[in-house]
This record gives sequence, structure tokens and C-alpha cells, in this order.
Amino acid sequence: MGDRLVSPNISEEEQLIEGSLRPRRLSEYVGQEKIKENLSILLEAARRRSESVDHVLLYGPPGLGKTTLCNIIAAEMGVNLRTTSGPAIEHAGDLASILTSLQPGEILFIDEIHRLARAVEERLYSAMEDFALDVMIGKGPSAKSLRLSLPPFTVVGATTRVGSLTAPLRDRFGAIYRMEYYDQEALKLIVARSARILKVASEMDGIEEIASRARGTPRIVNRLLKRVRDYAQVKANGVITKDVAQAALDAMEVDKIGLDQTDRNMLMTIITKFNGGPVGLDTLAASTSEDSETIEDVYEPYLLQLGFIARTPRGRIAMRAAYQHLGITPPGGEGGQTLWTTP
Ligand SMILES: Nc1ncnc2c1ncn2[C@@H]1O[C@H](COP(=O)(O)OP(=O)(O)O)[C@@H](O)[C@H]1O
Ligand SMILES: [Mg+2]
Repeated sequence: MGDRLVSPNISEEEQLIEGSLRPRRLSEYVGQEKIKENLSILLEAARRRSESVDHVLLYGPPGLGKTTLCNIIAAEMGVNLRTTSGPAIEHAGDLASILTSLQPGEILFIDEIHRLARAVEERLYSAMEDFALDVMIGKGPSAKSLRLSLPPFTVVGATTRVGSLTAPLRDRFGAIYRMEYYDQEALKLIVARSARILKVASEMDGIEEIASRARGTPRIVNRLLKRVRDYAQVKANGVITKDVAQAALDAMEVDKIGLDQTDRNMLMTIITKFNGGPVGLDTLAASTSEDSETIEDVYEPYLLQLGFIARTPRGRIAMRAAYQHLGITPPGGEGGQTLWTTP
């Protein structure tokens, strides 16, 4: 599962190379047009008022460009970026030491912000709202609470599970942006840009083929590009043509719409073992030997987006489109009405 080709999660090795492909400025950031437009207004307004940027929350599946966008915000504002993550801030004291070391206007990026410890999160409220931090001095009956003021700063939070954020935390973000899967045109631009940076010879048809199998995800499109490049160098003359891209991706068992063995296995399990569902997440996890959090955060969002599965209060169900993709006759036959109606 760790080296699954179409996983939107990042490997350590990849983290090193990814840097060179990461867009640095808003103008290089492909797609997410609505977010870019809103964000550029937010940044421009802050610049004109010489204020720190309002706190920003970015949410959506992995690999869509949240970390990249946070780096861009810092670059566009010409300020420093401090990066941390929910699980890395273990105690309220860790948060206090980060916050008191921030310079005015700096950006604090908190990745996986839904995983902040409760005590830390509660401290963050007043820091975000009033730029103040309440600290306890001393112990026992003589202990006193002291309010420290902080320089204005910006929290950029990123999460794959916005539903797990508490309402008070969510309310402290002035701007909340939902990242969307990228369309074909945007993905093509991203592959073409990456191919240029990596100096890979490619034809437009080849680029299109890679884009169409990348599940709407920039991280995956870049990974497929690298693997197809390897294939092109070893098995062909180094140029990524349509045929080369097709052969390479077929060999890697990434199908026409970017599903791999794991996705197909999950769909088959719902369809054959559970009669199309509904099947509960934990049961599905147990019968596919995957972890339920991974299914929910990593595999499922794209299958939902495709309309291959649906979530119901009683569990996941396979939709007509999934049967068709796998070449299985759906219950009720090919021509029937919609198989299931989503509640
Ligand atoms: N809008 C974009 N345009 C071009 N490349 C992008 C874009 N968004 C993401 N990428 C590429 O995808 C990779 C993964 O993006 P990242 O910001 O790390 O995703 P996330 O933090 O949402 O998991 C980046 O290294 C970058 O190369
Ligand atoms: Mg990230």
C-alpha cells in the first residue's frame, strides 16, 4: 500500500524531488480558479492595509496542492513561513513557544490541523482571535494567569477531514477554501510544466494520456510522469508518446480512469461479497485488509467523485457506474433506472 502508484499520499523520497516541481507563485499555480481569485483579493487587501492576512483554512483530499498554496501565500506576502502539524504540537507549552517566537506578519502553517490535541486547540483560540496567549505563572494557590500579547500573525491550516474540526476552531478562520479535483485541462498544463522542468521529451498525446489517468490529482500526475519517463527511456527512445504512455500505465495496472488494483478490489468486494452494499466502513476495511482511515481519506474520495460509490447511513454502496466500469451487469440489467438513489 505504501508504494501504491496512484496513492495521493507522499513518500519520503518523493518529498525531496517534489520541491522542484512545486509552483512558487500564484501565477504558476494551475487550476483552482475560484480559490486563486478569492485568495488574491484576500492577500491584496492585507497588503494595502499593511496587516497580516486573515487566517486561512484549506481542506480537501491529499495531493491537491494545500501545502503548495500555503508556501505561495507566504511568498506572495513576502513573509516567513513556519511549518508544523497537528500531531507535532503535543502540549500547550509547545504551542506557546512557537507562537511567542513568531515575527509580525509571519505565517504559521499547521498541517493536519484536525489532529491537534484538545488542550492545544483551546489555547489556539485566543491566539488566533485576539493575538493573545494566556499562560499560567507558578503553581498551586499562588499561580497566576498572565495574558501575553502576540504580534499579528496568520494561521494557515490544512486538513483532509474538515468534518473533524470543532466548530470553534473552524469559526476562527476568516477564509475557508475547499480544494477541488483538477480537470483534464489543468492536469495537462501541470504535466506539461513538469515535463519541461524535468526536461522530459513528450508529445501532447502522451501528456494527455498521463493526465487522464491521474485521478484529478497533481501529486499523482507528477508521479505517473516520472514512471512513464523511466519506461520511455528503458523500453522506447525516451520520448513520451501516446503509445509509450499507454503501454507504461497499462503495465503499472493503472486503468483508463486512474483506478488501480486496490480500487478495483474494493469495488469488487462491495459488489460480490456484499451484494452491492450497503457495507459498513469497518467491515469493508477488514475484508480488503486496508485501514479504515486510509479508505476514508485516500481511496474513497475519488470513487465518490466518480459516482462509483455512495455513502449512506448504513454504509457504502456500489453505484451503476462502478458495475459498468468493471464490466459487470448491474442488478436490474443494463437498461434499468438508477440503481440506487442516494439519500
Ligand atoms: N495547482 C498546482 N499546479 C501545479 N502543481 C501543483 C499544484 N498543486 C499541487 N501541485 C504539485 O503537486 C504536489 C503535491 O501538492 P501538495 O501541495 O504537497 O499537496 P497537499 O498538501 O494538498 O497534499 C506539489 O509538489 C506540486 O508539485
Ligand atoms: Mg500537504
